[in-house]
Amino acid sequence: MLSERAHRLKPSATMALSAKAQELARQGRDIISLAIGEPDWPTFTNIKQAGQKALDEGFTKYIPSPGLPELRAAVVERVKLDLGLNYESNQCMIGLGAKHIIFNILQVLCNPDDEVIVPAPYWVSYPAMAELAEARPVIPHCPRETQFKLTPDLLKRSLSAKTKVVILNSPNNPTGQVYSKQELKDLASVLERTGVWVISDDIYDKMVFDGSKIVPHIAQQSEKLRGQVLLVNSVSKTYSMTGWRIGSLVGDKRVVDACANYQSQSVSCGVPFAQRGAVEALRGPQEEVYKAVEVLASRRKSALKILHGIAGVDVLDPLGAFYIWLDITRTIGKKTKTNRQIGNSADFSAGLLDEQGVAVVPGIEFGTECFVRIGYAVAESKLMDAMGRIGQFVSSLS
Ligand SMILES: Cc1ncc(COP(=O)(O)O)c(C=O)c1O
Repeated sequence: MLSERAHRLKPSATMALSAKAQELARQGRDIISLAIGEPDWPTFTNIKQAGQKALDEGFTKYIPSPGLPELRAAVVERVKLDLGLNYESNQCMIGLGAKHIIFNILQVLCNPDDEVIVPAPYWVSYPAMAELAEARPVIPHCPRETQFKLTPDLLKRSLSAKTKVVILNSPNNPTGQVYSKQELKDLASVLERTGVWVISDDIYDKMVFDGSKIVPHIAQQSEKLRGQVLLVNSVSKTYSMTGWRIGSLVGDKRVVDACANYQSQSVSCGVPFAQRGAVEALRGPQEEVYKAVEVLASRRKSALKILHGIAGVDVLDPLGAFYIWLDITRTIGKKTKTNRQIGNSADFSAGLLDEQGVAVVPGIEFGTECFVRIGYAVAESKLMDAMGRIGQFVSSLS
C-alpha cells in the first residue's frame, strides 16, 4: 500500500529514544534522558517578546516562500559579522529548521545515483535525507586517531565521478569535535574546483569552549572553494528555539532559488511570527548566548571529570556542541547484573535505560559502533546523578 520510499524510511532514532524515555517516565520510572538534542533553558525573553508582538499585530498570514526579507537580511548580516563573509540577501533563504534546509538542498541538487559523502560519526538524519533524494550516501569512517574528523586522505578515497555533495558539521554532533582552520584548509584544497557542493552544517558554531566565540568555517579558508559552499544554520540551538522551526541557507543563488521554489510547492512558506522572533534573535543582544555557553562549559567540565574516573569507558574531550561521545569498546562482551549480554552500543543503551534509568543514544545510529552519545544540555544536578548511574552500570558489568 505504501510507497517503496515510505518502506525504506526509518524514524529518527534520537526522537524515538527520547519518546521511549518520556513514556517510561510517564509510567512512574525515575528516568534521566540524556538522549535529547536541545537546550533545557527557555527561548530568550527578547525573542519571545518579538514573536508575541508579531502575533498581537496580526502578523499571521502567508509570507514569501524564501522567507521574510528582513530575516534574510539579518542572516547575511550575521554571516558578515560572525565570519567576515559577504553575501547578498537574495543569496539567503529561510526554511523550517536546518533539517528542512538540508533536506531541501539535497532534493534540489541530487539526481538518482549521485553520491553524498557523509563522514561518520554523522548526525542521524544525513544518510536518510540523501536516500530520500534518491542519492547514495558514501560513508567514510573517521577514527579516534583523527578525532573522528574527515581527513584529506579519507575524503580523496571517498570522492568519485558521481560525488555531488559533501556534508561537514563542526562542532560535530555526536562527537563534539571541532575542525581547525588548517584542517578545513586542507579539506578545501581537495574540493576546490571539483564542482562538488559542500554543505556546512553550522548549527553548533557558537557552542565552543576554547574561549573563541565561533568556530572556523571552511568558506573562510579558501576563496576558490567559497562558491561551492552552502552555509546552513539555524536559531534552534544557539537561541534555544528548537520549536520555532527556523533554519537558513546562504550561498549560490541558483541553489537558494531552487530551494525556495521547492519550498513554495511543499510547505508554501515559513511561520511569520516565528520569523520575526528570529530577526530579534540575530539582530538583538547576544549576551544570553555567551551566558548559555558558559553554563554548558561548566556542565561539560563536571560530566567529563566523572566520566574520566570510570574504569571501563574512554572519552575524547569534546570541544563544542553539547554532546559527549563515550567509547564503550571495553564493555563489549560483558554481562549486566540481570545477565544481559552487551554485544553492541544498542545493548549498552538498552541495559543502561532498563537498569539505571538513563537514556543515551547508541553510536550505531550515528554510523559508528562501540560508542554512545551523551547529551549534556540538562540541569547539572540531573547530569551528575546520571553520570553516577552510568558509573554504577559500567562497574556492575562482568
Ligand atoms: C547537526 C545537526 N544539524 C541539524 C539539526 C536540526 O536542527 P533544526 O532544529 O534547525 O532543524 C540538528 C538537530 O539536532 C543537528 O544536531
